[in-house]
Amino acid sequence: MPDVEPLIDRFGRVHTNLRISVTDRCNIRCFYCMPAENVRFQPRSEILTFEEMARFVRVAVGLGVNKIRLTGGEPLLRADLPRLVAMLASIGGLNDIAMTTNGLLLREYALAIRHAGLHRLNISLDALSEAAFRRVSRRRGLDKVLDGIAAAREAGFERIRLNAVAIRGLTEQEAVPLGRFAREHGMELRFIEFMPLDAEQNWDHDRVLRGRDLRTMLESAFGPMVPIGRDEPSQPAVNFAYADGRGTVGFINPVTQPFCADCNRLRITADGSVRNCLFSADEWDARHLMRHGGTDEQLAELVRDCVAGKRTGHGIDSDAFVRPARAMYQIGG
Ligand code: 5AD
Ligand code: SF4
Repeated sequence: MPDVEPLIDRFGRVHTNLRISVTDRCNIRCFYCMPAENVRFQPRSEILTFEEMARFVRVAVGLGVNKIRLTGGEPLLRADLPRLVAMLASIGGLNDIAMTTNGLLLREYALAIRHAGLHRLNISLDALSEAAFRRVSRRRGLDKVLDGIAAAREAGFERIRLNAVAIRGLTEQEAVPLGRFAREHGMELRFIEFMPLDAEQNWDHDRVLRGRDLRTMLESAFGPMVPIGRDEPSQPAVNFAYADGRGTVGFINPVTQPFCADCNRLRITADGSVRNCLFSADEWDARHLMRHGGTDEQLAELVRDCVAGKRTGHGIDSDAFVRPARAMYQIGG
C-alpha cells in the first residue's frame, strides 16, 4: 500500500480498481450498448494518448489503485494496443492488468498482449448460434469470436472468463449451450443482467433475465449447483460450482441484486472523464487538466473529488433513477 490516504468515499468504500476505456469504437453493434447505425464517435483529438493514460494510471497507483482493466468500445481496435499494455505493466504496483474484449481480434493480438504483460482476459460471448449472435451484435462474426477464444487459450491465458449479457427472450435459448461450452473448455462463465445503458434506450425491466432464473435453467441441464461465494467482497459475481465438479458459473445481478455497497471501482472514459459509477451523472475532466498544465497533485485531487462525490448506489429499481447521458460504449463497461 502506498504511503498516502487511500481513496475512501463517504460510505467507507476503498477504491483500488480502475477501468480504463481506450476507445469508444467497436467493430460490432450490440443492441444493449451501441446504436445500430450512424454512431457518433469521439474525434481522435479528444481521445487520450497512451502517454496520458499511463500518466493517469501512475497517479491512480499512487492513490492505492492496484488493479486495472482495459475496456472499450472494443479495446483491440485501438492501434498499437500492446504498447499501452507494456507501458502500464512497467508502472509497477499493479497486481492485476486485465482486459474485456469481444474477441473478434484476438487471433491477431492474443500473443502480443500476453507478451506485453496482460494478466487476464474476459471475452464477451452472448450466444453460440450465429442467428442469435447476429440479433445481438447486428453483425456477423461468431466463428471469428470462437477462433479468438481458441487463440487466447493457445497464447497461454488461463482462467479466461466468458461474459454473457442476460436478456429475456434471447438468453433462454443460449444459456445451456453456453454452459456446456464453458464446461467443456474449462472456462468460467458469467451472466450479467442487462442494464439500462443501451444507446437506443430500449431497456425495460421486462427484458432483464434474472440470474436466479438462469441458474434454474442450468441446474435442470447440468444438475445442482452449490454456492461458492465471491472471490473477494468487491467482486460483483455470485459464484456457483456444479456439484459434479465440472466448472463454475457466476451471476452478476446489478438489477435484481445490486452490489453497490461493496463497489471499489473508478472509471476513466476514452476521452478522459473520470467517473465514480457506470450510472453517475457527474464526470471529472482529467483530459482538460492534463492538457492545460495540471500537475500530478492536481490530478490526484481530481480523483479524490470524484471519489468523494460517489453516491450510495445506482438505484436502477427506484422511481428516481435517471439514465446516464452516455451509453455503455462511451463509458467502458
Ligand atoms: N448491460 C449489461 N452488460 C453490458 N455490456 C455491455 N452493455 C451492457 C448492458 N447494457 C457488457 C458486454 C461486455 C462488457 C463490456 O459489458 O457484454 O461483456
Ligand atoms: Fe462493442 Fe462491447 Fe458495445 Fe458490443 S458491448 S457493441 S462488443 S463495445
